[in-house]
Amino acid sequence: MAGKRPSAVSTRHRANKARQLAVVILAAGLGKRMRSRTTKVLHELAGKPLVSHVLDTAAELGPERVAVVVGHQAEVVRAVVGERARCVLQAEQLGTGHAVLKARSALRGFRGEVLVLCGDVPLICAATLRRLLESHRSGGRLATVLSMIVDEPAGYGRIVRGPAAGEVRIVEHRDTRRDEKLIDEVNTGLYCFDSAFLWKSLGSLGRDNAQGEYYLTDLIEMAAKRGKAACEALDDDDEGLGVNSRLDLAEAEALLQERILRGWMERGVTFIDPATAYVSAAAKIGRDTVIGPNTRLEGDTRIGSDCRLDGSSYLRDTKVGTGVHLRWGVVTDSAEIGPGAKVGPYAHLRPEAELGRDVHIGNFVEVKKSRLGRGSKANHLAYIGDATIGRDANIGAGTITCNYDGFSKHPTVIGDRVQIGSDTQLVAPVEVGNDAYIAAGSTITSKVEPGALAFNVKPQRTRADWVRAFRKRAGAKKKGK
Ligand code: UD1
Ligand code: CA
Repeated sequence: MAGKRPSAVSTRHRANKARQLAVVILAAGLGKRMRSRTTKVLHELAGKPLVSHVLDTAAELGPERVAVVVGHQAEVVRAVVGERARCVLQAEQLGTGHAVLKARSALRGFRGEVLVLCGDVPLICAATLRRLLESHRSGGRLATVLSMIVDEPAGYGRIVRGPAAGEVRIVEHRDTRRDEKLIDEVNTGLYCFDSAFLWKSLGSLGRDNAQGEYYLTDLIEMAAKRGKAACEALDDDDEGLGVNSRLDLAEAEALLQERILRGWMERGVTFIDPATAYVSAAAKIGRDTVIGPNTRLEGDTRIGSDCRLDGSSYLRDTKVGTGVHLRWGVVTDSAEIGPGAKVGPYAHLRPEAELGRDVHIGNFVEVKKSRLGRGSKANHLAYIGDATIGRDANIGAGTITCNYDGFSKHPTVIGDRVQIGSDTQLVAPVEVGNDAYIAAGSTITSKVEPGALAFNVKPQRTRADWVRAFRKRAGAKKKGK
């Protein structure tokens, strides 16, 4: 190994040492009130687990260290956290104070401020946390808690302020006296601590309370007794919403959707009816795109600029180029739509459907694992599966690629400028060369050479004057009954 350069490392270390930041995220609890088999922090908002919202916000602060305290379904939570933080196990959930203490090993050697966040308080913004941190630092405090005012304080810890400034403590809902129950300023569950104070005080916590738990909240009173605590109130109380039940989850989703949609509107996207649009946290939308009512953009969906989505569409993990028009009722999953394409109404693009530039897919057309080259069209009632289609080809109404023989899927290859007549079955594996024509109603089972016409001989027969005779026969029969 090349020689270490301790001087460079230690200089940088010293430069940052003045004020270091660590973040601890509490995510071990099951969340009984969710009544779910899934642990609470894995429930999703805007398609992203609660704990990931908190992790992403924490990352915006550029902390030196991030630790996540895991417990229930620890392995799944660890997988979601991934490389973003160190996970520490709290095998038994003995309270929030006990949980933070478990993070101590992950923060060994760390000196500075420790921001404690909750895996179930997902709407908090980085700017708010920065303000909390600044106020904590400039006040020279040991502990600062973030509070909010709520209409329904039940369930939250109450902020009990004394007559003197800095005299503050938190009383958990189940430990409140009757007069304290009326307090509407509550603990968000988010705090900033001096690391030395944090570890020392956590070691001395008792569990003499209604829940028999080690309460992190008790640290506020401890710091207050030394004149070094404060409570900062949120400007926007929505940021402090704690998700404890499915009702809270729905409320958080509504608030987050409002925030996400507002963000896209500010960046030049029109929503015809924001109340019925849904956009995932990961989705991206280009400028001057118009999103119609009842549209869901899920997962990693990316819509280009100047697109029109008429409405009632569901897109998941789909890439949409610029200037695309999705008519009413389009469903897509892991598909790619080239610039200028027109899709729908009522079309279904399944995984690995790839539409080139200016492709047209019309009503009741299903495309799966197939590529359509620039300018090709399938405008009515077709199934295109496991197919490669060249440029400017026309797939007639009712065309079916028969790709499955009951055991495996087989490919269909269609060249450039091919004209497939209506009601054609292409029995795969099969190939149709460039410029070939297929007559309507054909069943194609072998290769069609470029420029050829393929058709099945199904001679037409006609019986003159048949209808009159038929009606007479049928009518007589009915009367006789
Ligand atoms: C906590 C606060 C309360 C505050 C509320 C805000 C305490 C004692 N109470 O109450 O004052 O108003 O948050 O949302 O801190 N957790 C662990 N291990 C544990 C216990 C909890 O990791 O042993 C985690 C949970 O997974 C959750 C968070 O800590 O993410 C908060 O725990 P929760 O049980 O929801 O606390 P609350 O009763 O909401
Ligand atoms: Ca909670």
